[in-house]
Amino acid sequence: MALNRWTQGAALAALLAAAPAFADDSTVTIGMILPMTGPSASTGKQERAGAELYLKEHGDTVAGKKIVLSIKDDTGAADVTKRLAQELVANDHAAVLMGFGLTPLALAAAPIATEAKVPEIVTAAATAMITEKSPYVVRTSFTLPQASAPMADWALKNGVKKVVTIVTDYGPGVDAEKWFGETFEKGGGTISQKIRVPLKNPDFAPFLQRMADDKPDAVFVFVPSGFGSIFMKQFVERGLDKSGIKLIGTGDVTDDDLLGDIGDSALGAVTAHHYSAAHDSPENKAFVAAFEKANNGMRPNFMAVAAYDGMALVYKALEKTKGDASGDALLGAMKGMSWTSPRGPVSIDPETRDIVQNIYVRKVEKKDGALWNVEFATIPDVKDPYKASKH
Ligand code: PHB
Repeated sequence: MALNRWTQGAALAALLAAAPAFADDSTVTIGMILPMTGPSASTGKQERAGAELYLKEHGDTVAGKKIVLSIKDDTGAADVTKRLAQELVANDHAAVLMGFGLTPLALAAAPIATEAKVPEIVTAAATAMITEKSPYVVRTSFTLPQASAPMADWALKNGVKKVVTIVTDYGPGVDAEKWFGETFEKGGGTISQKIRVPLKNPDFAPFLQRMADDKPDAVFVFVPSGFGSIFMKQFVERGLDKSGIKLIGTGDVTDDDLLGDIGDSALGAVTAHHYSAAHDSPENKAFVAAFEKANNGMRPNFMAVAAYDGMALVYKALEKTKGDASGDALLGAMKGMSWTSPRGPVSIDPETRDIVQNIYVRKVEKKDGALWNVEFATIPDVKDPYKASKH
């Protein structure tokens, strides 16, 4: 039976009412919902490792409260995300919901966060409008407009005149296509084709020849984390890496988790993003070393750092509220919070609850035999431009 909004709300209210009136006041449960299996399992693996590293480094006690990190696998299915979010708040008294590997999964949890008045920290999904779907959503990942508009500015300044865009056909891809395209065209560039490829079982091959026939200066790509190697494999199979067409995009396609698998065909790709494992700061060097040590040499990607920062945000908020873990107190403490992340300085915009951060322009280069996204330009303190455009 399909439940309408009202009956869903009533069902959650009934669950909350049936739960024991007392929650154990000395513990704070963080319910982390991730795709640990399915096509986005790499996101789950990175996020879990990022959150667990923070816990290991900072201990499980903050402001007198014991932190319990409860990680659940939603397999990438939105109905499962929703059920897990409901169970976490009603049965486990989770004070915070965190994670959400894909936009539809973050959206599925938003009504639960609103109903239960529990902060939903989005550490992965990156469609700009997610934070508008509940006043309890706070984001430590990024937004696609935040990375795509600076990519267009860089292309305009570097002799790129004609571009074909190719994106995965759902929220973040549509955001990337729009914010890259509009910024590029406003600056005098031409978008000659806009290609969208399904999220499920993506096959880029049929589009690649059509794209090459246009002879663009560059192809701008967005695919979600974990899908970059499929795109790059087909790009190389069609010989496009030797065609003189430049590869540009948001950093999702040259994900640090996949670069080693992608191999030398990624060399020279220029992307804009908020995190590279090669970021040159003492905080990041310590983060990468500790992460690799704890995870059999696995290199952290932007998903790992967002989960690490999601935990940092909860700890810092609890310190500020002196251990008050009620939803509104935590949310209030999170708004405007600033700290130094492995990615650089960050803060939570108190109005939009999105993260404000540097966007770096990077190029894939080989150093000591390994591929890295090497940052060469910084655009400081970038707010999500979608929300800025509405104010
Ligand atoms: C999303 O579904 O919002 C998403 C997932 C992976 C990314 C970016 C965005 O790399």
